[in-house]
Amino acid sequence: MEIRVYDTKEQCGKAAAAIIAAQLLRKPASVLGLATGSTPIPCYQELVRLYEEGVLDFSKAVSYNLDEYVGLPADHVCSYHHFMRVNLFDHVNIRLDATHVPSGTAGDIHEEGAAYDAAIAAAGGIDIQVLGIGRNGHIGFNEPADSFTKGCHLVQLTDSTIDANTRFFNSRDEVPKQAITMGIGSIMAAKTVLLMATGADKAWAINATVNGELTPAVPASVLQTHHDVILILDKAAASLL
Ligand code: GLP
Repeated sequence: MEIRVYDTKEQCGKAAAAIIAAQLLRKPASVLGLATGSTPIPCYQELVRLYEEGVLDFSKAVSYNLDEYVGLPADHVCSYHHFMRVNLFDHVNIRLDATHVPSGTAGDIHEEGAAYDAAIAAAGGIDIQVLGIGRNGHIGFNEPADSFTKGCHLVQLTDSTIDANTRFFNSRDEVPKQAITMGIGSIMAAKTVLLMATGADKAWAINATVNGELTPAVPASVLQTHHDVILILDKAAASLL
């Protein structure tokens, strides 16, 4: 694993954006794996800035997001579909029909998951996968478990994740209890993984990811076996390394 540590979350965002920018410049038709959460927002802001300055062109890019809450329609303000439009897609020239987020309202979530994995494979696989990390070491919505799950699937969210994500909703009761997420196998199939973490509440998860046992109890620890991972951290998230 390559580990880069910065003073501020803004620097982390610029560093992550520089890696994605290099990917897009080398391969304009890149398949981007994208993440939600507050952590990648500075990265998306920097990508928008580079687009506005005429440095980046997203017109040939394709994107696949990690996850979505079950039960939230795409136009719900707390949905990850909405998050991606507000934070990135509406501000760059990516074609909206080239952006993909798993559907949280599909009649059959298992079928939706299988179709999502098939679509990623048909697109040639993910070139670079952006990840945040949960306080418990979850990636996407792959929660701590007894085994790693390969493909895109339905998950029950843990109390810790529901607590952490309550800040985006009016109340804890409004946070969906289930989600659809790319599996660990789908994430591991990405050619490059770019994991961002900022803040002291991520320090335990980052240390467990880098130095801990490889275990599905800390889903991100699987990244120890990926051949091309870069961690972009601020000092607080790196404080236990
Ligand atoms: C959610 C998302 C994850 C994200 C995590 C951390 O659970 N499904 O993809 O990494 O939140 O979010 P934040 O960056 O806001 O701490």
